[in-house]
Amino acid sequence: MLRTNTCGELTIKNVGQIVSLCGWLARARDFGGMTFIDLRDRYGITQLVFNSETNKELYEQAKKLGREFVIRATGDVCERSNKNLKIPSGEIEIIVNKLEILNESKTPPFTIEDESDGGDELRMKYRYLDLRRTSVKNNLLQRHKVGQAVREYFDANGFADIETPFLIKSTPEGARDFVVPSRMSQGEFYALPQSPQTFKQLLMVSGFDRYYQIVRCFRDEDLRADRQPEFTQIDCEMSFVEQEDVLQMFEGMVKHIFKKVRNLDLPKFPRMTYANAMKYYGVDKPDTRFEMKISELNDVVKGKNFKVYDDAELIGGICAKGCAEYTRKQLDKLTEWVKRPQIGAGGLGYIKYNSDGTLKSSFDKFFDEPSLKKIAEKFSAKQGDLILILAGAETKTRKALGELRLEMGNKLGLRDKSRFECLWVVDFPLLEWNEEEQRWFAMHHPFTSPKKEDIDWMYNGYTEKNSSHAPKANAYDVVINGVEVGGGSIRIHNKELQQQMFKVLGLTKEETEQKFGFILNAFEFGAPPHGGIAFGFDRLCSMVISNEDYIRDYIAFPKNNSGRDVMLDSPSPIDEKQKKELGLK
Ligand code: AMO
Repeated sequence: MLRTNTCGELTIKNVGQIVSLCGWLARARDFGGMTFIDLRDRYGITQLVFNSETNKELYEQAKKLGREFVIRATGDVCERSNKNLKIPSGEIEIIVNKLEILNESKTPPFTIEDESDGGDELRMKYRYLDLRRTSVKNNLLQRHKVGQAVREYFDANGFADIETPFLIKSTPEGARDFVVPSRMSQGEFYALPQSPQTFKQLLMVSGFDRYYQIVRCFRDEDLRADRQPEFTQIDCEMSFVEQEDVLQMFEGMVKHIFKKVRNLDLPKFPRMTYANAMKYYGVDKPDTRFEMKISELNDVVKGKNFKVYDDAELIGGICAKGCAEYTRKQLDKLTEWVKRPQIGAGGLGYIKYNSDGTLKSSFDKFFDEPSLKKIAEKFSAKQGDLILILAGAETKTRKALGELRLEMGNKLGLRDKSRFECLWVVDFPLLEWNEEEQRWFAMHHPFTSPKKEDIDWMYNGYTEKNSSHAPKANAYDVVINGVEVGGGSIRIHNKELQQQMFKVLGLTKEETEQKFGFILNAFEFGAPPHGGIAFGFDRLCSMVISNEDYIRDYIAFPKNNSGRDVMLDSPSPIDEKQKKELGLK
C-alpha cells in the first residue's frame, strides 16, 4: 500500500505516529515560510504542513503543487494549535518530511468544494470531478448502504436475486421503449426493458417463489427531477400471496432500510384508498406530513348567481392556518401562481377569516357574511385563517388544488425535512378511459388483476364506455412524503382472464398473440397466484438519504434534462459502416 492511513481517520490519538497519506490537493495556503495543504480522499481531509525553517527544499516543492495534484506525503502526526473541530481530523496535522507527486492535474474547471462555483452543465461534463465533492460522494456511499440493507433483508427472507435480460421485446409500462437495432436480423429491433415485469412473472411460473433484483430499467419519457431515462428498480415478486402479504413484506423492507441507514424506527404505514387520496389531497401520492385537506364546496357555493361557481363542475378549497393577514400583493402572487400553465387554474378565490371575527372574500358581491361563514365551517376555519378556492372541470381542479396545497405547505414550512410519513395508497382503478384514443388503458399495467367483484365487468361491462363504473385493481403504491417510491399489484395468473384483459385494452387476437403469446403460453403450464412490487431505487435513496426527490444527485453518471450524457456527448451519430452493418439508412 502506498498509504498507511486515510485522510479521514487520524485523530488526536495518533499524535506521535509516522504516517503516509495519499490524496488530492484540495486547498493550499502559504503564509511565507509555512505552507498548509488540505489533502482530500474519499474518507476526509487532513492538513499537511511544510515549514521552510525545518525543510526548505520540501517547502519550495510544496509551494509549486497545484490544485487536485495527486500526492503522497509522509510525516509525523502532530497536535494542531489552531484546531478545526468541524472535521474529525481537525485536531491534528502532518508535519511532512517526504513528498511525492503521484500525478499532476490541470486546474479543475470549477472548485471542488461543498458549495461549488460550477454550473450544472459544467459539473455534469466533468462528473468525475463533481463526484469528488463531499456531498455528491456521500450520496453515492449512502446509496451503497441502502442497497446493502435491501440485499440483507431479502436474503434473510428467502428471496433469490435473479438476473433478467436487457435485450428483449417491448414490455408495456406506459412509456416509449428505447430500441436497439439487430445486426443479425436486419430491420428488426430489440427493446430495452421498461421493467422486468413479464420475466419476474415467468420466474414465478418456474417456481422461484420469492424473487428480487436491483435492476436497471429504461423508459423514453419526458424527464423531471424524479425521472431519468435509465433508472434502477428494486424489483420483487412473490408466489402464493395475497395483497396483504405483499404489503407486509415490503413495508418491512422499507422499515429495515430506514433502521439500517438512518437508525429510525418507522411506525406502521397507514393506508389510504386512491379515491380518498384524490378527494382530500388532489393527487394519488399525498404528502401526509401536514393536513390542509381539500374540501368540496359545491353544496355551499352554488346558486348565489356567481357564474364562475355556478358553471363549475367542482369548487374546492383548502384552509391555510394563520394566513388571513395575507396582503393584496401576496394573494396576487398566489393567483399568478395558480394561473401558470403547469397548474392551469382560471383564478383564485379567497375568504379571509379576520382576527376580529369578520369575513372578507374575493366574491363579496355574491355572498353575504352568513354564506361565507357556512363555507368557513366546511374547513372548521378559525379566526386568522385564509381559505383558498379553485373552481372548474373536476379532474383539473382536483389536481390544481393538490398543487396549491403543496405550495402552501412549502410556504408555511409544513413539509418538514426531518420527518418521514410513509403511506400505502390502495384500491387503484384498474383502467383509465382515454378520450383521444377512445379506448381503455391499464392504470398500472395489463398484468394487474381486477378486484374479484369486477371480474364480471371485465367480460360484460367494459363495452359501455362511460366510466360510471370504475373497476378497481389489486394495486398499491408506497408513498413517502408525497413521493411515489414504489408500486405493484397482484397479477392475473389465469390465461383466459389475461386474454380478456388484452381484449378490453383493444388488442386484437393476432396482436395479443404476437406481443404476449409467450406469457399466455406460460400461463397454460401451472402459473401460481402471484404478486409483487417495484421500488424506484434512485427515488428511495434520495428520500431515505436527504428527504428530497431530486434523484440525479444519487446517480453516479446521470443524464441531463434532455436525456443527454454531456460527459460522453451521447446520444451521438454513428458512422456509415456501423449503420450499414445494422441495415439502417
Ligand atoms: P412502475 O412503473 O410504477 O411499476 O415503477 C416502479 C417504480 O419505479 C420508479 N420509477 C422511476 N424512477 C426514476 N425514473 C423513472 N423514469 C421512473 N419510472 C418509474 C417509481 C415507481 O414507483 N413493473 C411494475 C412494478 C410491479 O408491478 O411490480 C413497474 O415498473 O418509484
